[in-house]
Amino acid sequence: MQRIRSRDRFEGEFDLPGDKSITHRAVMLNAGADGESFVQNALMGEDCLSTCRCMRALGATVDVDGTTIRIVGAPKFRSGVELDCGNSGTTIRLLTGFLAGKGIHAKLYGDASLSTRPMGRVAEPLSSLGANVETTDSRPPVYVYPALLQGADVNLKIASAQVKSAVLLAGLSASGKTSVTEPVKSRDHTERMLKAMGAKIQVDERKVSVQKSELRAIDVDVPADISSAAYFMALGALKGKTLCKNVGVNPTRTGILTAFDRLGVKYELTNRRISGGEEIADISVERSNLRAIELGAEDAPAMIDELPLVALLCAFADGESRITGAKELKVKESNRILTTAELINTLGGECIPTDDGFIIRGKKKLQGGIVNSYLDHRIAMTGAVALLASERGGEIKDAHCCAISFPTFFEKLGV
Ligand code: S3P
Repeated sequence: MQRIRSRDRFEGEFDLPGDKSITHRAVMLNAGADGESFVQNALMGEDCLSTCRCMRALGATVDVDGTTIRIVGAPKFRSGVELDCGNSGTTIRLLTGFLAGKGIHAKLYGDASLSTRPMGRVAEPLSSLGANVETTDSRPPVYVYPALLQGADVNLKIASAQVKSAVLLAGLSASGKTSVTEPVKSRDHTERMLKAMGAKIQVDERKVSVQKSELRAIDVDVPADISSAAYFMALGALKGKTLCKNVGVNPTRTGILTAFDRLGVKYELTNRRISGGEEIADISVERSNLRAIELGAEDAPAMIDELPLVALLCAFADGESRITGAKELKVKESNRILTTAELINTLGGECIPTDDGFIIRGKKKLQGGIVNSYLDHRIAMTGAVALLASERGGEIKDAHCCAISFPTFFEKLGV
């Protein structure tokens, strides 16, 4: 149990850990590329360490020193390996695609939570490229067998960067052209990194095409993760003033700022620059009076991991908010429609879970109490923000799960 006391003010400047999505991709793709590379300011969360472990098992050198990772790519991946993906959906989904055309066989598996997560959404499009991928009732463990891949046009029904990336990474080993079209554009870190590594890739709005390519190793300086910064940005909006530095503000990730615009949160982006093909800025946020909002399916992908936090902000707003088009939350590390609603309701708020989102009756305050994280890192961190901003504070069950994406979270929070 982690105790969180309520506070009248919360202020400070924060350097946040590296972006989870970019760290995964930098490690995985460099491990399959020719040459040596360094990833700086890498996230040392358990999910990214799962990717490091898998790439080592496949034959790459992956040495971790503080937040720097040195990688020497494997000329050919080792076959017959068992890959433990831990809790990480990004590791298992991207790697299944990356390995599908590499001429090896591998078993990919994970912990109890990962073992319940859908893999049919990856296996089906990969099989249309000729991949030989077997799931276990559409879930992990997943078995990849050697196959010759041929490019295909894939139309995705859901906006998912993990599924899109799996198909693109398989497309790197396929003959001809592989295209993926999404209903709404999801985060595009894979596309940007593949381009920087010399892959033949073309992006046309929601359609991305790749051709068979060898990757060139590149050094990557990882920006701070906006999904981790979001908790400190929200605390600024609720309780004072915060400045989050060197945050990645790739437009496919800044949905939290769209939510802030609608909620009436006062924020400013300064020191904007581009580094390694990704936009970066410092984000300052100050205490604001929040109003109720509506969010729909077209808004969800750019704030998919922040939606529990956005729902929480709605509980501190004035009026009834509606979040729709967010069915994907049901298949994250927990069913986040249910776990978020429970979090808000047990602390004295009013949140009605729906089939694809939430209705939140904002009361401008929460009482406090005990939050069950259900071992979901985003729920634990949203719970910490809720308790700190509540009247009485409280406790979080299984708070250690924050280490999945933000091992130093409670230290930075100062609790
Ligand atoms: C991720 C994509 C998102 C996100 C996850 C990381 C990625 O999932 O929820 O935390 O790195 O590609 P989707 O597959 O729903 O886009």
